Amino acid sequence: SGQTFEVFTLFPEAVAGFLRGGLVGKAVARELVSVHCTDYREFATDRYRTVDDAPYGGSPGMVMKIEPVVAALEHVTRERGPMHRILLTPAGPRFDQRVAERLATVPRIGLLCGRYEGIDDRVREHFVDECLSIGDFVLNGGEVAALAIIEAVARLREGVLGNPESAARDSFSLQDMSSETCPEDHGAWLEHPHFTRPPDFRGLGVPDVLLAGAHAEVARWRREQAWRRTWALRPDLRPQRSLPAGAPVYLVA
Ligand code: ADE
Repeated sequence: SGQTFEVFTLFPEAVAGFLRGGLVGKAVARELVSVHCTDYREFATDRYRTVDDAPYGGSPGMVMKIEPVVAALEHVTRERGPMHRILLTPAGPRFDQRVAERLATVPRIGLLCGRYEGIDDRVREHFVDECLSIGDFVLNGGEVAALAIIEAVARLREGVLGNPESAARDSFSLQDMSSETCPEDHGAWLEHPHFTRPPDFRGLGVPDVLLAGAHAEVARWRREQAWRRTWALRPDLRPQRSLPAGAPVYLVA
C-alpha cells in the first residue's frame, strides 16, 4: 500500500533529518510513505572508504566511483527488493508535475544522488532506469533534488494531504478547464490567487466577487484568474487563446 523511496547518498543524516519534519515526516509516521537512506561510503571496500577518484582524461574535480554505487544498489535490491532507479543529474529531462504524477504510481523508487563532478557514467548507462533534473541550475549534489522529488510525489499519494482536492487544484495540475472562460485549453495552469481575513488590511482590499461568495461567480473568476496569471507569467504553459480585456491580473511577487 505505502510507497517506498530508497535514497542513495553520501549524506544520509542530512536527508533523513529533513524528511522527519513536515508533511513527508507525517506521511512516514502514518506509514503511507517510507524512506530509507543508504550511504555509498558503507560500500567502499578500501581502508580509507574511498568513494571518489580523479576523472580519466584529466580535469579538475572528482568523480564518484562505480563500485560503491553499484554495491549499494545491489545490496538494497537484495534486502528490500527491486526498485525504479532514478539518477539525479542536471543533464536529465526536467522533473515536473506530469513526472510527479507518473512516479506517484510507482511502489518502489530509488533516487541516486551524486556529489563532486558526478557519478561514473557507466552507472547511468547500465544501472538506472531514468535520469531527472529539477531545473537548469547546478546543485552541489543530488540530495536537494531527491528531497524535492520525494515531497512532490509523496503528496500525491492517497491520504498524505489533508484535503485530496487541494492537490487536484494546485498550480500545474491538469485542471478541468472546460468552461466559457476557456474552452479549448486543458494545459497545466498556475493557480488562481487566494485571500483570507481580514477583508481590509491597511486599505488593501479583497476582490468583491470572493466576499459576495456566489459559487458559480467565484468559480468563473478563479478560472479567469488562473488563465490570466498563466498567460502573463508563464507563456510556456501555453494557454491557447489571447488575453481577454477585463479584470486585473493578480500577479505573484
Ligand atoms: N544534481 C546537481 N544539480 C542537479 C539538478 N539541477 N537536478 C538534479 N540533480 C542535480
